[in-house]
Amino acid sequence: MKSVCWLLALILAVGSALAAPPELDLLRQSGRVMDAGVAADMPPLSQGDPAWGAAPAMLLKIYPQRSTAPGFEEATPATLKVQALAGKGHLALRLAWADKSEDRPDPRSTDRFADAAAVQFPAKPGRLLPYIGMGEPNNPVSLWFWRAGTVPELAEARGFGSLTVLPGAAPEVDAVYSAGEWTMVLRAPLAADAGSPLPVAFAVWDGAAQGRDGRKWLSSWQLLRLPNMRDERARLRAFAAEAFTVGNAMRGEKLAAERGCSACHRLPDGPAFDTGPALLNAGGIHWPGYLRRSILQASSFIVPGRSYGANGISLMPDMEWRGGEMEDLVAYLTSLK
Ligand code: HEC
Repeated sequence: MKSVCWLLALILAVGSALAAPPELDLLRQSGRVMDAGVAADMPPLSQGDPAWGAAPAMLLKIYPQRSTAPGFEEATPATLKVQALAGKGHLALRLAWADKSEDRPDPRSTDRFADAAAVQFPAKPGRLLPYIGMGEPNNPVSLWFWRAGTVPELAEARGFGSLTVLPGAAPEVDAVYSAGEWTMVLRAPLAADAGSPLPVAFAVWDGAAQGRDGRKWLSSWQLLRLPNMRDERARLRAFAAEAFTVGNAMRGEKLAAERGCSACHRLPDGPAFDTGPALLNAGGIHWPGYLRRSILQASSFIVPGRSYGANGISLMPDMEWRGGEMEDLVAYLTSLK
């Protein structure tokens, strides 16, 4: 009898160690998890390689970044197809998106801009997710940066406009423009501390839309699960705490009207004031954890791109919140996609 109990305990212990952690299931349901396929050898660099046919694909919505000057009000969301393959310490990402024209830099003209794309990773992957628009002074991102007609770069950014090229291995790129679409593979060695799941986000610039600096489309942070690596439980827990809100979006919408958020922020059907960044796609670009922090500790990070604050003090006022009000507001902002 005793040995049967032991056996049962052992089976249960092994079973729970093998089952997917509950945080992973939750994150998956929130649409924030991507799986990288396994490459037997080095993942392919060619965007036309048949191996891509079997790699898992994810369609991500990308949103115009509207917090920078000059404004980008006319732009609408777009779609980016992303695939990932990993092997031999390397990660290859295949990106595809629609673009009406192929724009390369023109040495004779300063108002012609090139199409470009960037993949960003937190420079410290196990920590709080950095600001999606290219990191923060205290929480930088590393970037794989490609611009049509130029050499790809490995860079670091601490907020947009702060790109520093890093000495490490620059990504290799195979980019093809055909029939109104860019398709490209970017491949580089994985950082030694990459770990799984690895947060990753994407940005795309359209040269013809005067795309440069902050005038880009960007995705929210996604969690990329790397093959043959164990998911780090502490990371999953930290990300799950950032990814959800238990608030009620309808109550949050009423509250936003009562508290006068649209006196400074553009909201659906609201006036076009821009003392603060437009929040029209707040839930498409930002995670609930970031939105919560932006309201509760506005000055902990001031959105770059315009004069949104001075001397480390945000123009966003401190406000008092009762009961579940804060979460209702976060739920409302999260619903704006
Ligand atoms: C007096 C103007 C003002 C009011 C009123 C105001 N905000 Fe802000 N808000 C700002 C400014 C300026 C920023 C950018 C500076 C920063 O990062 O703190 C900001 C930043 C934010 C951000 C981060 C946006 C981003 O793109 O990263 C969120 C979210 C936000 N506010 C939500 C709200 C909500 C919700 C309300 C109403 C309860 C509100 N704000 C009321 C001025 C305001």
